[in-house]
Amino acid sequence: MKKSPRARHSQPNRTVSIVGTGSYVPEKILTNAELERLVETSDEWITSRTGIRERRIAAPGEHTSHMAARAAERAMEQAGITAEQIDLIIVGTVTPDTAFPSTACHVQRILGAKNAACFDLSAACSGFLYAVEVAQQFIANHTYETVLVIGADKLSSIVDWGDRNTCVLFGDGAGAAILRYRAGSHGVITTFMASDGNFGDILHMPGGGCAIPITKDNVDEKLNTLKMNGRETFKQAVLSMGSAATKALEQAGLTTDDLTCIIPHQANMRIIEALADRLEIPLEKFHVNLDRYGNTSAAAVAIALDEANREGRFKVGDYILLVVFGGGLTYASSVIQW
Ligand code: ACO
Repeated sequence: MKKSPRARHSQPNRTVSIVGTGSYVPEKILTNAELERLVETSDEWITSRTGIRERRIAAPGEHTSHMAARAAERAMEQAGITAEQIDLIIVGTVTPDTAFPSTACHVQRILGAKNAACFDLSAACSGFLYAVEVAQQFIANHTYETVLVIGADKLSSIVDWGDRNTCVLFGDGAGAAILRYRAGSHGVITTFMASDGNFGDILHMPGGGCAIPITKDNVDEKLNTLKMNGRETFKQAVLSMGSAATKALEQAGLTTDDLTCIIPHQANMRIIEALADRLEIPLEKFHVNLDRYGNTSAAAVAIALDEANREGRFKVGDYILLVVFGGGLTYASSVIQW
């Protein structure tokens, strides 16, 4: 009898493991003291309101795909896989090298991952966790074996460097993970994802799409730069991450006491403190690196995951919670058993 082309999907779902992580940040450090010379601000204001001390800025000619590929190489090395083994590349980004081809296709070319299908995923700062969930669905359903998931952003390219409300907050970077089925292993237990398009205008870039195309007038009006309502974003960040974390824990049948580490979106130390308070989890359980990198958008949680992994913060069997929010509004949380 002829086998149905979808027969493989009738196999039972399987747990998906993170078998390698990697990250990359550019060499150039931009300190708060340097920002004092760009806009009317102070190291004291930035540190006390956000916790950020410095951030990394991509070199001229260094694009999102370059940072993404460096992070991917490190993840592949840790996972012990070659570029040819990758079946799918998903890049979460809002700063693609080009509108098309996708950044994932640029990464494919750099890595020589000639067997991969490639696409970008737009969920702003939630892009990495959204991509993890998409990858996990493909692997669980036996469509693909090995997926490269990347969160990468070059927000320095869309920041208005004259706007002190935003330019002090962001940095550039990339984080990556290799996801695979590993027999008898732990992995991504559950992911909760949600969005609310009604809050789209609290954090957005109005220009550059078909609604407000790139014209000289639009660029002169800085419509191709990031706009943010800081107070509303702060409020929504705490509410949405709190709700996503609670839902993911419920779905996993776990409580906050079961968690050994929380990797939150790295936007602002005060947001992380408020989240810790809301979830009643001691702050020491949160992995924080925003003091060194600022908010790197889709890369933030991926860089933090790689850092915590390489620092040996996870033991086999540990429950880890990742939780993010971003423009859209988008938010998500994953529970992973290491
Ligand atoms: N230096 C000095 N003063 C500043 C600066 C600065 N860099 N930026 C703003 N101010 C001023 C404001 O102009 C305002 O002055 P005013 O009272 O005279 O109008 C004053 O500081 C206070 O402004 P607030 O908005 O009340 O400051 P707040 O304590 O809320 O902190 C901040 C502002 C840090 C932006 C905070 O609201 C925040 O972190 N919001 C969330 C931002 C965020 O997470 N964004 C990204 C999330 S999603 C993604 O990652 C893409």
